[in-house]
Amino acid sequence: MPQVEHLGFSGRAADAPPAASAADVQLAAVAADGWPAIETEPLGPWLLRASYGFTLRGNSVLVTGRPQEHLLEAVSSIEAWYAARDLPPIFSVPTDAAGGVIDRPLADPLAHRGYRSSEWIMTMTAATEQVLRAGREHSIWDSATPVRVESDLSPDWMAGFAAYRRLPTPKVAEAVLTGSMRQVFVSIPAAQAPRPGGVVSANASVLIPAAQRPLAIGRLAMTRRWGGVHAMWVAPEHRRKGLATHVLTTMAALAQERGCGRLYLHVEESNTVARHLYSRFGFSVYNGYRYLQRPPEH
Ligand SMILES: CC(C)(COP(=O)(O)OP(=O)(O)OC[C@H]1O[C@@H](n2cnc3c(N)ncnc32)[C@H](O)[C@@H]1OP(=O)(O)O)[C@@H](O)C(=O)NCCC(=O)NCCS
Repeated sequence: MPQVEHLGFSGRAADAPPAASAADVQLAAVAADGWPAIETEPLGPWLLRASYGFTLRGNSVLVTGRPQEHLLEAVSSIEAWYAARDLPPIFSVPTDAAGGVIDRPLADPLAHRGYRSSEWIMTMTAATEQVLRAGREHSIWDSATPVRVESDLSPDWMAGFAAYRRLPTPKVAEAVLTGSMRQVFVSIPAAQAPRPGGVVSANASVLIPAAQRPLAIGRLAMTRRWGGVHAMWVAPEHRRKGLATHVLTTMAALAQERGCGRLYLHVEESNTVARHLYSRFGFSVYNGYRYLQRPPEH
């Protein structure tokens, strides 16, 4: 989870939100489908999302444009909507390509109400063809590496996901992970035999029975000719051996086969390792977002 920082907000001063380009709004909608919330409700152009607390993206208001009603009334009704679900209100607000919050007329009153900004989450994009070429040209690319591609969520893939993400219950995670228009689950299987009893999640609260944790995973969501790269993870003891390269290259090939000419992904600014990986594949920063939320009360 991104850390909440006392950064204040940066961005352009304006009385009304600057008009987002149609491309920005379209990509935000594509990305919302790529990681869909379990419950959604529109408020004008905003989208209220709730998923039993599983991931910030699934439990935050996607801000694009401005609802009809008075801003503070909209904020109050959103706070009540989340309180009714026993969730904190969180706003996902768009940034420019340098991480500055664009919508000051929303961010400033929220800051006044005690909301603080998370670190910047960058949205990066690349042409699928470029990613595919970069992967295949990498010295560690070996087409014989066994990569598993599944359209259904398997216990093995889930065991990889659970190794680095806190899972509330497998059912909630499953609903989000399988809820896009189209998605595939990519993994590099482990060589050894399955552990008896299954695999326990990182927060030790979930047992995934009959699972064999893979060495690496990734998830590709496909919506409106965009491929969304999610859940990239490699087992710590197998890093820097090209496994992410194999997963990403496989996903680019699948995206291309299915007519998705561009790829997007989200990465925290502080995740320099992942940013290196994505830059190496030709991804560049398109824009991004920050979560505005109140620090938890003690
Ligand atoms: C990011 C991650 C998936 C990379 O996996 P990996 O299998 O180690 O990556 P690869 O071996 O395929 O590396 C490919 C390229 O990425 C870059 N890279 C990978 N690890 C790096 C590191 N520690 N430092 C700098 N660059 C790195 C390099 O450019 C590398 O190519 P090179 O080895 O020829 O220099 C892995 O570190 C990971 O699982 N991190 C934790 C989960 C995570 O942050 N996921 C991303 C969420 S957005």
